[in-house]
Amino acid sequence: MTTPVDPTLTSAWKALGAIATDFHPNLREWFDSDPERANKFTFDLGQLRVDLSKNLLTDDILSALIELADEVKLRERTDAMFSGEHINVTEDRAVLHTALRKPADAELTVDGQDVVADVHAELKKIYDFANRVRSGDWVGVTGKPIETVVNIGIGGSDLGPVMVYEALKPYVKEGLSARYISNIDPTDAGEKVKDLDPETTLVIVASKTFTTLETLTNARVVREWLLRSLREKGALEGASEADAVRKHFVAVSTALDKVEAFGIDPVNAFGFWNWVGGRYSVDSAVGTSLAIVLGPENFAEFLVGFHDVDEHFRTAEWNRNVPALMGLLNVWYTNFLDAHTHAVLPYAQYLHRFPAYLQQLTMESNGKSVTYAGDPVTYHTGEVFWGEPGTNGQHAFYQLIHQGTRLIPADFIAFANPTWAIKDGDADMHELFLGNFFAQTKALAFGKTADEVRAEGTPEEIVSARVFEGNKPTTSIMAAALTPRVLGSLIALYEHITFVQGVVWGIDSFDQWGVELGKQLAKELTPAVAGDRDVLAKQDSSTRSLIEFYLDNRN
Ligand code: F6P
Repeated sequence: MTTPVDPTLTSAWKALGAIATDFHPNLREWFDSDPERANKFTFDLGQLRVDLSKNLLTDDILSALIELADEVKLRERTDAMFSGEHINVTEDRAVLHTALRKPADAELTVDGQDVVADVHAELKKIYDFANRVRSGDWVGVTGKPIETVVNIGIGGSDLGPVMVYEALKPYVKEGLSARYISNIDPTDAGEKVKDLDPETTLVIVASKTFTTLETLTNARVVREWLLRSLREKGALEGASEADAVRKHFVAVSTALDKVEAFGIDPVNAFGFWNWVGGRYSVDSAVGTSLAIVLGPENFAEFLVGFHDVDEHFRTAEWNRNVPALMGLLNVWYTNFLDAHTHAVLPYAQYLHRFPAYLQQLTMESNGKSVTYAGDPVTYHTGEVFWGEPGTNGQHAFYQLIHQGTRLIPADFIAFANPTWAIKDGDADMHELFLGNFFAQTKALAFGKTADEVRAEGTPEEIVSARVFEGNKPTTSIMAAALTPRVLGSLIALYEHITFVQGVVWGIDSFDQWGVELGKQLAKELTPAVAGDRDVLAKQDSSTRSLIEFYLDNRN
């Protein structure tokens, strides 16, 4: 196991610092003086086209970033991840989400376990089950086929499946649909089951640990709803409650003993392994709801898309390695140009949950302030990732990206072909849509000078308000269409970008201790919320008075 290199002590860090101290980016000039710029910085990645040319990137910066990658031993760390070394040091675990999408004939043995064989055995089990549900062979306790799959999970056991379900709606089998319950706010379960037919509902309880408060609470509540509703319909006659639970509940977990204790038949529990982090698990059994509604073939295509990017990341030289370049650019912006956030702006309504998904992936991974050796870092780490689909965002927060005082690097994502080919009279709606996509990155890069504003006859006193400085960095990611394979590649791209940044920062991108304190305090505080005056009295004055307000106002 290597020890983290302090990036600030590398010669590349010093070179980047020197460039940044007197840095006056000029994308207009850079494009004018180099007709090859777009070609030089545009890459194919699986079925994705990625244009980095509108980033604040020059040959000098690129060389320094690649030198930085070498100095922090990015290659060794990448090899260590792919080969199953325990690079998640605080949990002493391998990090092998890349094994989830290896083809069946690949070989990888880690800690004495034939990882590829295990993955494919589990996939077969999931696909067989999915086919039974899809064909109507799997029936509920009253003999009816399944129409609605309800996935109960949170964090990595929810965000990935929801995002993919929304993104790939056109691939969902007719007559089937999925719903996702995550929040412990009773509204979530209440709203999601209120119009459901229990006889045709299949519930997947997805929890890596099978201990998560939200998921287990929701699972118990939905189990109670299912049994009550079946009873009220007279649908439980001749069948036991235990039988109904077995027919309507399956599980996804690494903790099969706990699954059985809940009443779920362990035969219908789909497993994964402790070397799959929750936020890296949508391509594991956590995607069972997707395998059912999209079908095994589409799910397999989704995995191929991940693998395309894994192979590129594992083998390509850094100067044409897209995840590496994008991760290094994020370091450049965060540590040298003072960017605090990063926008992800899909021009695809189907990707409306993609930014939320990326928030867990990137921020739970890289929101760390000690290195994996336990030393405090002396530089900034994880940025805030955020975004909304275009064009909606244009009418909300783009103002700040164009003319605000902060640097906000942004990734724009679009697809050449729409799912809905709709016309407004003679105008193709998708053309109108993508016209906006191309216009935004152009405006951000090249801006509008005061002279150009004056040339439009603008009164002098408002010229400055209408100037666009330009030189706002963007990456454009395109593909022919939003298919399962393309989506897999898109996710893997961001997984590896996150990894690259974590390597430069010398942090453990695969643990998440920062979520624990809140969980512990919630447990301690809940009795006070339920009226325990002794527990209430032990709280700080702010928390105490907030809980008192709650108690006074609760009906
Ligand atoms: O609390 C954070 C977290 O552990 C995430 O990392 C994880 O994705 C989520 O909770 C859900 O965990 P589980 O799948 O074990 O229920």
